[in-house]
This record gives sequence, structure tokens and C-alpha cells, in this order.
Amino acid sequence: MTPSLQASGIHKSYGAISVLKDVSLSVAPGTTHAVIGPNGAGKTTLFRVLSGEVFAERGSVRFEGRDVGARPGFRRVRDGIGRTFQVARVFGEFSVLDNVALALEACAAASPASLWRRLRVRASAALLAEAMDVLATVGLHKRAADPAGILAYGERKRLELAMTLALRPRMLLLDEPMAGMSPGDRLAAVELLNRISRELSMAILLTEHDMSVVFALAHHVTVLNYGEVIASGTPDEVRASALVREVYLGHEHA
Ligand SMILES: Nc1ncnc2c1ncn2[C@@H]1O[C@H](COP(=O)(O)OP(=O)(O)O)[C@@H](O)[C@H]1O
Ligand SMILES: [Mg+2]
Repeated sequence: MTPSLQASGIHKSYGAISVLKDVSLSVAPGTTHAVIGPNGAGKTTLFRVLSGEVFAERGSVRFEGRDVGARPGFRRVRDGIGRTFQVARVFGEFSVLDNVALALEACAAASPASLWRRLRVRASAALLAEAMDVLATVGLHKRAADPAGILAYGERKRLELAMTLALRPRMLLLDEPMAGMSPGDRLAAVELLNRISRELSMAILLTEHDMSVVFALAHHVTVLNYGEVIASGTPDEVRASALVREVYLGHEHA
């Protein structure tokens, strides 16, 4: 089966520093794949390369078999690759519903100029209904009328996910989706992502520090250390790797 996302031989450097060295990974359709590794290992940089925010010097990125390595980020979003950021980006003064409607508008808008023109007119009933639908998926429909700025941290992250889902992606790139969440929010987020994966047959690539989250979600794990893949396999295989244990023991007790 053609992988949803396939990165091969990715090299990325900043000045003299090699941040990613010959990184390859493959995400099978409908599966959840976690990228783990210590701080500074290159996880966020890899996500930026995969989403088209920055470009690799070498290597290829294929989405559903098609080479997207030269496509800028906004085109990859339209191709069907949704992404969230390590720090949630929402408009605090707008209502929760308007934030999702805005994401839908932004997707439909042909150019930034037409986006701003659209923002001045009222969103259509159909668009608001669609936005409400997406809010229900992440369990935020009861907060639709509240300003996004008053949401608790975990809810804000869920809103950001709703804004990403509004664009109907076929794959999600989630960089530390649960960073800073309370244990309760984390559990709810694990359930939500499991449900999205199952019900929407979504391919998900995520980074996560919390190993219990990784083991509860991921079908496949890739371990990065100093920009290199040091292990890749099922959660059990990765957990059994002596090298991974060494890297993690060194950092967890730091
Ligand atoms: N824009 C940048 N310019 C220079 N160095 C960067 C840049 N982005 C990341 N780095 C460096 O690349 C390494 C990997 O960073 P990052 O991808 O954020 O790791 P992680 O997400 O695994 O913590 C770090 O040493 C970081 O300092
Ligand atoms: Mg990071």
C-alpha cells in the first residue's frame, strides 16, 4: 500500500549545524506514528520540513505517493496535510465558532486579499453549521459562543485541532499536541486522537514526550537523537532497544 507520508534521506542544516541527517520515515494510511527523542533532537525541524515551512537540502517528501518536497506549506495544506503548532495559534478576541469559521474561510479564499474581504461579510449559515460540526468532533460545541481567549489551555489546543480538522485533511502533523496539558486533559486528548484516527481513518504523525501517551496512541515509533534515526519500529520493539533505553535514561533523570 502506498504510504500516506514518506520522507527519505532528509538532510537539513542551519549554517554549519546539521540538524537532520539522512532521516527517513514512512507513515502507513490510517495509522498513528510517533516521533520521539530528547529536546533538540530535531523533531520540530523534521515537522517543519514535512509541512513545507522549511525545505530540506537533500531528500524527498512524498504525500500519498506524490513528490511534495518542493511545494510550499500552504499548498501542502490544500493537498491534505493538516498541522498544528507547538504553541496553539488562535484568535483570542473571536468566538470559538468564528475561529473555526475563519479557518474554513481561509481554506476557501483564493488569495489573502479575498480572505480579508470575506472576513468583513458575515459567514454563511452553511459555513457556521460546518464549523459547529467540527467543534462537536473535538467536544467544544458548548463553548462555541465564548471568546477563544478565555478557553483553558487544553480547550485551546482542542480548538486549534478543530481549526486544522476544518480543512478536511487526510493526514495530521501534530507537534507536541499535549505539551503543557494537565493529566486529565492529556487523557481526553489521547481518547480524542484515537477516535479521530479510527473514525476518520486519519494518518497521524506526532511528537510527544510522555511515553504513556506514545504507547497509548502510536502504531509505529521513530526515535531521533542528534538529528539521526536511532530506532524505528512498533512501540514494543522500540521500548526493547538498548540504545533507546540509554538515550532516554540519560535524559529522563537529567
Ligand atoms: N531556525 C533555526 N536556526 C538555527 N538552529 C535551529 C533552528 N531551528 C532549530 N535549530 C536547532 O536545531 C536543533 C533541533 O531543534 P528542534 O528541531 O527544535 O528539536 P526538537 O523539536 O527535537 O526539540 C537544535 O539544536 C536547535 O537549536
Ligand atoms: Mg520541538
